[in-house]
Amino acid sequence: MMSKDMKALIERQLSRRQILQYSVGSLFVAALPASIAETKVSKQFKQAMTHLFGFKSVAVSNLLDHVIVPEGYRAEVLYRWGDPISDGPQFKMDGSNTAMEQLQQAGMHHDAIQFYPLPRGGEHSDHGLLVMNHEYIDAQILHADGGVFDSPETYNLEKTLKEQYAHGVSVIEVKKIGDDWQIIRPSSYARRLTAVTPMQVSGPVARTKYIQTQADPIGEQILGTFNNCSNGMTPWGTYLSCEENFNDYFDVPTLSHLTNKQQQAFERYHIKHSYYGWHNNDERFDASIHPNEPNRFGWIIEFDPYQPSNTPIKRTALGRFAHENVAHNIGEDGRIAFYSGDDSQFEYVYKFITKYAWDGTQGMHHGRLLDEGILYVARFEDEGHGEWLPLVFGSNGLTQENGFEDQADVLVHARRAANKLGATPMDRPEWISVHPNSNDVYISMTNNSKRGQDNKPDSDTANPRNNNKFGHIIKIIEQDATSILFDWNVFSLAGSEQFQGTIQGDLYANPDGLMIDKRGVLWLQTDISSSKLNSGEYAQFGNNQMLAVDPFTGETRRFLTGPNGCEITGVVMTPDLKTMWVNIQHPGEMEQLPNSQGREKSAQTPNATSNWPDHQPDGRPRSATVIISKDDGGIIGS
Ligand code: FEO
Ligand code: CA
Ligand code: CA
Repeated sequence: MMSKDMKALIERQLSRRQILQYSVGSLFVAALPASIAETKVSKQFKQAMTHLFGFKSVAVSNLLDHVIVPEGYRAEVLYRWGDPISDGPQFKMDGSNTAMEQLQQAGMHHDAIQFYPLPRGGEHSDHGLLVMNHEYIDAQILHADGGVFDSPETYNLEKTLKEQYAHGVSVIEVKKIGDDWQIIRPSSYARRLTAVTPMQVSGPVARTKYIQTQADPIGEQILGTFNNCSNGMTPWGTYLSCEENFNDYFDVPTLSHLTNKQQQAFERYHIKHSYYGWHNNDERFDASIHPNEPNRFGWIIEFDPYQPSNTPIKRTALGRFAHENVAHNIGEDGRIAFYSGDDSQFEYVYKFITKYAWDGTQGMHHGRLLDEGILYVARFEDEGHGEWLPLVFGSNGLTQENGFEDQADVLVHARRAANKLGATPMDRPEWISVHPNSNDVYISMTNNSKRGQDNKPDSDTANPRNNNKFGHIIKIIEQDATSILFDWNVFSLAGSEQFQGTIQGDLYANPDGLMIDKRGVLWLQTDISSSKLNSGEYAQFGNNQMLAVDPFTGETRRFLTGPNGCEITGVVMTPDLKTMWVNIQHPGEMEQLPNSQGREKSAQTPNATSNWPDHQPDGRPRSATVIISKDDGGIIGS
């Protein structure tokens, strides 16, 4: 029986969709003579644009080491790497904070962010919790004298622990006092999850042989989470964090102890070399000794930010791969779809559909909906149609004859199962966002330089450019969140017209972050890699940026540009849309810039290319959360 809350929520969604269908339909008035229809259409397009955007584009940033926003807007730094989460230790500008101090401070390299109003269940826009991921670390900036590669002789357990504690998730309490947002210190909500925080496991993989280790012979408790890239929020008010490039943390010095199946799985998941060196001081990251340890990462984790002592849970029914992000959509019968991309070249787009309906109420106990259901993977067919293919053991070739032992095996090796089903290999699926007033699903494909090269897959209708340098955005049109068949089209090809780009307005390359707000503005964030930023054919795009896009007209305006060497990732707004938080990740990552006078970033010169946001002479660049507000107190983007 559907609850009253659920019924009301679905009715609200339906009426919004009907309004939208009416207004979209009216844009294409087929019965009118062409010229009149054209005039009507362009007039209504203009109205739509006026309605959505009221700001003037900012210019491309040519190596400005600042955050730039449009006239009439302010950008203020709130929460930098190393800032205390509560009343803990202050940041030391020389990078000399200890591991134990880092445990009580903001992690490094902020990624996706969510806002949870206080009290729970309300729509307050002046008090709440900010919850964000800290994706990875830059050892040359984190430590006073560098990490394992530039200072191997000083790389010790203390450094490994500091790196592990700089990963994970932050929860901070924020409140608007007068016109200013402040972090509440101390706060009983303040919390850090790190690479060693104990977590439970649920779903079909819990307590199976694939995740059992010497330290956890049953397979029910995993230490930590890392490479938390983007995130998601459940409709019942909990936080979802995505484990992306977990493979980069494991080292495999020898294959001799591994079975053939393990070796094949390591190859499919690119588990070979550690970029961080943790295995030198923490044996569980040596995958030749602990081959099941990598199977304990690459999941989506859930926790309740309103309960500081709540144990996070790894939800294995959603599959194991390089989860970029997760976005949900509620079906008309109350079942929920969770979309997630696997950000690697030629990997796939997935959708999990819950078995049971949600009743519309709040609370972590609803998380069990994530334990039962079916994981599907997308096949994009020509002519704009597509199908979600089920990853179910025993069907469609996912059988013992083909090397799959059970459903846990299918989920742990989801990439292999998706291969078997004939899913469509994509150009690095990054964020996914569902339009709040329809079932349109937007997915950014950030780039794929290997498309069409050597023996790699050639371009196809869903990935239409070989050597895809600039990326594109796909739109999936679902009848309902729970539909198995879908329609799709290419929403935009990034890059300039010279490279067959189709952007209508300000140019960008390498779309990554996507968030559609309640008004229907698609906020798009870019991640041109630091090796390409401001050079060659990427120079025209300048520093990484955030743009506002009208999903119906395609109109695109540049709203924000970031400091040198950063990527822009993570954006969330208060329910009244008057405050926006944006994360600036890895400023100063560029090796060398024209304005760095030949200095290369190193442990000795961490600020060679960026010194944002503090700009102190002996300082270092710091990833940070920035608050955006409008001088007149209005809605962001208006
Ligand atoms: Fe962590 Fe795919 O970005
Ligand atoms: Ca990303
Ligand atoms: Ca990226």
